[in-house]
Amino acid sequence: MNISIVGSGYVGIVTGIGFAEMGNNVIFVDVDPGKIEIINKKEPPIFEKGLKELMKKNKEAYYATDNYIDAILNSDITFICVGTPSNPDGSIDLSQVMGAAKSVAEVLAKKDDFHVVAVKSTVVPGTTEEVIIPTLEKHSKKGAFVDFGVAVTPEFLREGEAVDDFFNPDRVVIGSEDERTRKILDELHSPFKCPKLFVDLKTAEMIKYASNAFLATKISFANEIGNICKKLGIDSYKVFEGVGLDHRINPSFFRAGLGFGGSCFPKDVKALIAKAERLGYNPKLLKTVLEINDMQPAMMIDLLKKHLGNLSDKRIGLLGLTFKPDTDDIRESRAIILVKQLLKENAKVFAYDPVAIEKFKRLYSDVEYASSAQELVDNVDAVLIVTEWREFENVDYRGKIVIDGRRILKAREAKVYEGLCW
Ligand code: UDX
Repeated sequence: MNISIVGSGYVGIVTGIGFAEMGNNVIFVDVDPGKIEIINKKEPPIFEKGLKELMKKNKEAYYATDNYIDAILNSDITFICVGTPSNPDGSIDLSQVMGAAKSVAEVLAKKDDFHVVAVKSTVVPGTTEEVIIPTLEKHSKKGAFVDFGVAVTPEFLREGEAVDDFFNPDRVVIGSEDERTRKILDELHSPFKCPKLFVDLKTAEMIKYASNAFLATKISFANEIGNICKKLGIDSYKVFEGVGLDHRINPSFFRAGLGFGGSCFPKDVKALIAKAERLGYNPKLLKTVLEINDMQPAMMIDLLKKHLGNLSDKRIGLLGLTFKPDTDDIRESRAIILVKQLLKENAKVFAYDPVAIEKFKRLYSDVEYASSAQELVDNVDAVLIVTEWREFENVDYRGKIVIDGRRILKAREAKVYEGLCW
């Protein structure tokens, strides 16, 4: 099939290249000339495992452009994959989605053939019906479900594992309201052997939010139990090994510690809270999930003070700056919260990360950066383990004070070792 993808962020590029690998022709539309140039050089615009090889292998099957007319007229399905960042009140900023919908609609106005617009950007339940469809209809002067199709096809891609997640999903969710659109998307997704769920538009939108909200809740639950375990001298990892063996519960996403960051969980939970409040419902559980998540870095600082006392002029080393390993993404990273607090307390902050130092420097130039994990550990009064990069298992921590937020086993050899939830 012929597909166009609006927005070449990590969801757009992985989805497009994934569909190209499955035998489809793909046109990427982006407003960023730099990204268009990189994609047309057949290079990945982001750091994502396995993407580079797939882009080379399928180089004849895709190209990038800023021209919506070219992209929409030469494809049957358009996936909207632009960002939906948070507004200051936690609700989502739909400006990029609206801009994309308007540009697509202006070409739909000139197109005779049936075309499907599938929303892959994460939008709160009701958004496609209440905002996106009216925009498409207004600017195309055509009717949804009759002249063109509309769908919601949420993604469940983890950064760092996005290529693998694309090809091996647990489920495919297709939200649509008309049979024609349903059939087209069913055919496109036919190579996936996992369960396929056909639902209406807002149910598909809610499946995405409920999935992320549940995973965030599971982590905050693990952290709450973990914080109690810490006070009792119990290793919460042993506890969750026992808990996770219950088939109703499942062992994954029970890694207690510093909490969740990244571009999805914090933003999506906040957006769902904002939506619920607008509907007159107070989502107490979701609010607590965020509160516990915010508490974890503060608890790390408390443990640090237990051993160092006043932090003024103390050299504190951060191992890891990304929100999780195997990505260069520092959005909502716990490292940001820790650095802010340490600087506020006049500590001297030293940091190391295998891939994200340059990015972090743009935010914090008053932090000193080490060229290796060992150099950092050797030159500080205490070490905070913030991200579980594998290489941190090869560092010599002997003689040091280490507060571990991510459970690096080798760090237990330190003179003083404190796990956050164990
Ligand atoms: C997440 C979802 O997993 C994915 O399905 C969705 O589409 C996008 O958001 P991602 O943000 O890439 O993916 O990261 P993920 O691997 O889920 O981890 C998120 C955060 O939770 C990280 O900061 C990680 O360190 C933290 N985490 C995860 C824990 O603290 N404990 C755990 O047990 C698991």
